[in-house]
Amino acid sequence: MKNFLRPFFSLLAVAAALTAKAQTDTLFIYSPNERQGLHVAVLKEDGWQHLGQLCSSDYGTWGAEKRMYHPSLCRAKDGTWRLVFQVNNTAPVFAAAYSRDLVTWRPQDYPRVSSAKCLQPVVRQMDNSFNVYYRDAQGHARRISASRDFRRFTNDMPMPFADEKIWQRDSTTIDGRVMDGQKFAVTSDEVQHLRKFFDEMAKNDRLSAERMHDDKERLAHLPQVLNATLAVHADSTKTISDKLIGIFFEDISYAADGGLYAELIQNRDFEYTEKDHRGWNATTVWHASRPIEIATEHPLHPNNPHYALLWTDTLWNEGWNGIPVEMGKKYDFSIYVYAGGQKQDFDILLVGQGGNVLAKSTLKTRAGDWKQYATVLTATATDEKARLAVVPLKAAHVGVDMISLFPQDTFKGRKNGLRKDLAETIAALHPKFVRFPGGCMTHGQGLDNIYHWQHTVGPLPERKPDFNIWNYHQTRGLGFFEYFQFCEDIGAEPLPVLAAGVPCQNSAANAEGIGGQQGGIPMDEMPAYIDELCHLIEWANADPATNEWARMRADAGHPEPFNMKYLGIGNEDIIGTVFEDRYEMICKAIRDRHPEIMICGTVGPFHWPSADYTEGWDFARRHPDYQYMTDEHYYESTGWFMHHRDYYDSYPREGTKVYLGEWAASTQARRPNVETALAEALYLTDIERNGDIVEMTSYAPLLCKESNSNWNPDMIYFTNTEVHTTPAYEVQRLFSVYGGDRWVQTTIFGDSIGDFRHRIGASLVADSRTGKHYLKLVNALPVTLQLTAEGLSLPASVECEQFSGDVEDQRAKAVRLTTDSPLTLPPYTLRVMELQP
Ligand code: AHR
Repeated sequence: MKNFLRPFFSLLAVAAALTAKAQTDTLFIYSPNERQGLHVAVLKEDGWQHLGQLCSSDYGTWGAEKRMYHPSLCRAKDGTWRLVFQVNNTAPVFAAAYSRDLVTWRPQDYPRVSSAKCLQPVVRQMDNSFNVYYRDAQGHARRISASRDFRRFTNDMPMPFADEKIWQRDSTTIDGRVMDGQKFAVTSDEVQHLRKFFDEMAKNDRLSAERMHDDKERLAHLPQVLNATLAVHADSTKTISDKLIGIFFEDISYAADGGLYAELIQNRDFEYTEKDHRGWNATTVWHASRPIEIATEHPLHPNNPHYALLWTDTLWNEGWNGIPVEMGKKYDFSIYVYAGGQKQDFDILLVGQGGNVLAKSTLKTRAGDWKQYATVLTATATDEKARLAVVPLKAAHVGVDMISLFPQDTFKGRKNGLRKDLAETIAALHPKFVRFPGGCMTHGQGLDNIYHWQHTVGPLPERKPDFNIWNYHQTRGLGFFEYFQFCEDIGAEPLPVLAAGVPCQNSAANAEGIGGQQGGIPMDEMPAYIDELCHLIEWANADPATNEWARMRADAGHPEPFNMKYLGIGNEDIIGTVFEDRYEMICKAIRDRHPEIMICGTVGPFHWPSADYTEGWDFARRHPDYQYMTDEHYYESTGWFMHHRDYYDSYPREGTKVYLGEWAASTQARRPNVETALAEALYLTDIERNGDIVEMTSYAPLLCKESNSNWNPDMIYFTNTEVHTTPAYEVQRLFSVYGGDRWVQTTIFGDSIGDFRHRIGASLVADSRTGKHYLKLVNALPVTLQLTAEGLSLPASVECEQFSGDVEDQRAKAVRLTTDSPLTLPPYTLRVMELQP
């Protein structure tokens, strides 16, 4: 069903309920168990027939939470529905949701109650409002009043004389099991509406299960060659975004520390803690022959409180599972020393796996208070797994911190720079923008872990490290200055994304036992948070002569503005009331204070028909002046992408634009292969066709260290010494390098491709700056596709880049070739060619 038809169906249902003319049916609504959410069954002559799942709990962390206990529904007089349920046995909150038709649910809210637990909530309609009743830990009844729209809840009050009937429920037997729930009389039209929805979902599941992997058997009957016509309609063109392909850099799977950030010393700041990763502490990956003494009394900076106290023992660091050094290369070593004026000399060594010294330098220090010392090490041999040794040469007690080793050969030779091979691989994508620094990483694991950009700029010892939601440590050495500089170095627009005043909806419970969004940043702290967002804009764009934030940028070596145009607010959040209240405040303030900034909003973690998607887009359309574009995310099967190629065709052309900020096709293989890449290539031909409403896209995640994966598939895998690009990378690169800003209509038709239209793609774009035209053709079938051109003349031989392979192939690369049959596409092929206008 098309997205924008859904309100129509919803209205239909409400109207049906109101007229109540049709025959009456009975629904039973219940939860089979706490992990399965809310289900519905309809009463037939031979008993209850299960129809499907209506919604599920969105509360708290994956795994331990997302449970629905004791759901209670109320049908309002206008036919709409209210749902409450208990989220667990500990939190002082309940879940509240609203639906017009049982099919479309508004995102859940989790109102807070005054008692320590909120058990067995029940909802009932009053004259102009709703009452929610619950039991506290002692079993005492309490009452809350809720607004008609079910978004505002009063404080709760005791109910000494509560009628126990409030908690009475129906029970019935479904599929042989006795279930607790509620019965409702509805019209047969409403039942039809539900059936239609579940049928639609089931059909969708069937289509999404289609796999190229199964083609050998399923499509064995196809002829060796399919013929079709490729028609180019040169007079039918439209302007499309020239920023369609960018990248999303998230610090996930060791993408930053241990990854793109070129620092070779792990835990350089002695700030690892148990919060980063179970079992970690300030000495993790450091070694000495005696226990390493860690102190905090006289820190280098309050944001960097731990340091090591050295005596005569050698201090070793193993890097990220070894320090890769290359013969002849130079490495910048630096260390902060605090010695109260004592002299201390150090030998600084790089030691190979066989105990051989690969590089050596001696540092003479006489530090009073903290002072930085530096030297250069030149490697005399190559070793993938060297170690660093800091050897004190005198018997003197000294504090050491921020022990650092960088290759001099970083990307563009920058100090505190990026790993050259990885950065160059990313740069070769020619991304038009970079979204950073996350994902879930940016809104964080709980309120205290929200990413504050200002903690990531300035001198390294002053930056504030924090744990990473992906279960490791962020030094913030790769901070906002470095991100912006990288964007500039690769000619990409910066698209920083920061929290919308709420942490990740999957956060674990805080000290008060509240999980998920944890109630959001308290309203009285929101003005300060909004200032923080505005300071970023000033830091990036303002004049250092007049602005203190801009002066920080200039002090870091960049007096010119970074020309930031976009700001992402929020990531995949639950678009509930806690979010919307804060998001609206943020948007209004930025619109008033910095109208030049284009805000990118969020519509949750899934595509239509998710509750967040629906409410997020409703919000965007209710407030067209708040956000320039909104960030959609979906990770789906190859079948889903092949069968939703019209996804953006029905989007309104005016108003908020789309940023498809996270997407990737996957199969059971979990890594990108030719199948996933071709499904993505097909989808991208449709993205180009819809480039008048889709402004940007970015595959996700971008980077993954092989030894430290949090997620699959990823676009680029790497080890300490190697970079492995994937088929997904090839497709992104081809669509980026051969992108344009005008779309020229092409159609493919022919009797033989009738059932396989979804496996064939063509897109012709023009770049008005260069006058070049690029044609992309995709054949995701196991047989040759032979196209005949109409409205297009091609020279006898054509140069192209071609990506092709066995569907399971995870290493396939695009190759350049010259062909005299440019419109004959071998099986499983993406071909890109430049056309002469
Ligand atoms: O891309 C990996 C994760 O997927 C991102 O952190 C999050 O936004 C999404 O759920």
